[in-house]
Order: sequence, then C-alpha cells, then structure tokens
Amino acid sequence: MRLSRFPGLGGWGDDPLWGTFYDWTVEHPGVGGAIWRAGVQSDLRLLYEAAAEIGRQPAGSRILDVPCGGGVALRGLRPGQAVEYVAADISQTMLDRTMDAARGWHVADQVEPVIADVGDLPLDEGDADLVVSFTGLHCFPHPELAVSEMARVLKPEGIITGSALLNDSRRYEPLRRAGRRAGLLGPGGTGDEIVHWLTRSGIADVTLEVSGAIGYFRGVRRD
Ligand SMILES: C[S@@+](CC[C@H](N)C(=O)[O-])C[C@H]1O[C@@H](n2cnc3c(N)ncnc32)[C@H](O)[C@@H]1O
Repeated sequence: MRLSRFPGLGGWGDDPLWGTFYDWTVEHPGVGGAIWRAGVQSDLRLLYEAAAEIGRQPAGSRILDVPCGGGVALRGLRPGQAVEYVAADISQTMLDRTMDAARGWHVADQVEPVIADVGDLPLDEGDADLVVSFTGLHCFPHPELAVSEMARVLKPEGIITGSALLNDSRRYEPLRRAGRRAGLLGPGGTGDEIVHWLTRSGIADVTLEVSGAIGYFRGVRRD
C-alpha cells in the first residue's frame, strides 16, 4: 500500500542552529562523543558501527538513507563500492551538507541526493537492499507510518537499520518537549513501539540495543 503524503514538521527546513550543532557532534567522535555521553548518556560509536552495514553491501546494491541529514552515515560507504546510495531528506540544506560530506569521503559518484518526505518515498516497492535511518524516527510527525513506508521500499531479505531517541525514560522528557515546541521533533515512540511498528510492517529478527536515550534497531524484511 502506498502511503499518502504527510507534511514534515517544518522546523528542519529552516536550517535550525540545533541541526548544525547536532551535525557537528556526530562528526566529531572525541568532543561530540563526550557531548552525547553527557547529554543523552549514549555511546556515539554505536552509530558508526551501525553505519558500517553500508560498507558490507555488494556492488549493484541500492541503499536508501533517510533522513540523511548532514551525511553522518556516509562514513560507512566505501570509495569504489559501486552501489547506488539514495540520500533522502526533507531539507535541501541537509542534502547540500550530505553532498559536501560525500565529496570529503570520496564517494560522491555513488550518492544521489533526493528531496523527499519519509512518508512518501520516491522509490518503488522492493527497490532497496538496505534502508538506514539514523536519529530520524523521533523527528517525524508519524513515525509508525515512516516505518511502514521504509519497509515498503525494502526488498525481501533486505535490511533496515537505524536509531531513534526513545520515549521510554522520563529523564529526557524536557529535551523531547523542547524539541517538539521548536518543531524539530515529532511524537516519537518507545523501544517496544518501534519493535512493534517494524514487526507489523513485515520486518523480522528485530533487535533493539538501547544506549542511554537512544535505541538502535535492526531487522530483515520477510514477505
Ligand atoms: C537529527 S537529523 C538526523 C540526520 C542523520 N541521519 C544523522 O543521524 O545525523 C534529522 C533529519 O530529519 C530530517 N527530517 C525531518 N522530517 C523529515 C521528513 N518528514 N522526511 C524526511 N526527512 C525529515 C531533517 O531535515 C533532518 O535532516
């Protein structure tokens, strides 16, 4: 089933200062990693480890990265890997940053930047071998529909992996509230809800690794 378009939250399109700060932290494992540990008690290296899944895709694979943001996941892509890497985001500014990062990693020839809403992805059913969605679900207005749309474009036996700020702990509620007020965060979900959304969308073998406020999920599309 193709989902109807739903609007983004708007705030990201305005190139918020928070976006620049966030991008800086994820690109600087030393100081940025310390900021992650202090702010959300999470190990930033898990994001890099999850992104390494990209480098394991064989030549000819199609990878969808949504939301690509500033391109943090590109560190997993290898020069000459000969894959098609669709970098999708609702913000042109973020796509420009992704392409700057792609040039820095010498992988720009494999990356196609696409303006897209995660609720209406410009890929056909079963088009992608791998979908990566880092630090994204909590930013979307309808995270459960985003999961369903990402699963739709995944091939049978394709992998989905990503991360999200979880709603499980009350400790981070002030952060979540501030983000929602700023138009940068959506309703998000708990770890159990994310696992449920994935499973309901045909994703099997779902794992969730929690590191502080962030949950890392992974699963395989089965039909
Ligand atoms: C916190 S950033 C994460 C980006 C990147 N994956 C990372 O880990 O650094 C969230 C991104 O979600 C994008 N975004 C927000 N709503 C979106 C939507 N409805 N569809 C696609 N992208 C969206 C924003 O533009 C922003 O780049």
